[in-house]
Amino acid sequence: MSHRRSSFSTNDLFPREIDIEICLKTLKIYQKMEGDVNCVVWDACLVLAKYLETMCHHKPDFLSSLKVLELGSGLGVVGLTAATLGAQVTLTDLPEALPLLRLNINENKSRIGSMGGYAIAESLIWGDTTSEILKEEFDMVVFADCVYYEEAIEPLIQTLQCLINSITKKPTIYLTQEMRDSEIQKDLWTKFYELLMDNFDIQKIPEEQQHCNYRSSDIILLKLTKK
Ligand SMILES: C[S@@+](CC[C@H](N)C(=O)[O-])C[C@H]1O[C@@H](n2cnc3c(N)ncnc32)[C@H](O)[C@@H]1O
Repeated sequence: MSHRRSSFSTNDLFPREIDIEICLKTLKIYQKMEGDVNCVVWDACLVLAKYLETMCHHKPDFLSSLKVLELGSGLGVVGLTAATLGAQVTLTDLPEALPLLRLNINENKSRIGSMGGYAIAESLIWGDTTSEILKEEFDMVVFADCVYYEEAIEPLIQTLQCLINSITKKPTIYLTQEMRDSEIQKDLWTKFYELLMDNFDIQKIPEEQQHCNYRSSDIILLKLTKK
């Protein structure tokens, strides 16, 4: 996949509001009318964001002050939700996705700050093992709908390996992925899952433990820990 330059005028944008019910905050997320996969809110990110919220409902300090890294943030729904629930979040994506991601962080800054959270956006290209971000230590890594093209599978696994092999903290990883019908997508997922099995203990989070309105049999939610 080539990395394209991104630009947008505010006329291209339209907002989507996402309620975080347990703290009575509403995130405002700008999407683009037209563009690449990082310009829209995908269903898998809502399932993951709402799962984090559900966990905080059961355990109010679930995210408080945790250092969280989001991979392939897109418009930032998962990372911004975690930050609004009190986490210190680094949202990452390809360089061309950062302008809109940063706009969304800025738009929600006061909501996040009022809950004691924090969010910044940085570039992190999967497989770039020299990235300064990978020298930091995180308590949790999250990503939604990031398994969708062949060339990214091994680099994404490489980035996860770097993160899980950090010196002191061994982050818990939560991921969601929409299961799509095409044979190509099914094969991609099988390949990714086999690589995950080599590296992680995998727990599938059952639908009944997810948010009652934001779960789907088409979207898988996994919790990974170091083997
Ligand atoms: C399908 S979108 C999902 C976006 C967001 N997580 C969501 O669920 O709405 C996949 C995301 O991965 C990012 N991405 C793709 N290839 C990447 C790479 N090699 N390194 C970092 N991010 C990448 C894209 O820019 C995009 O934001």
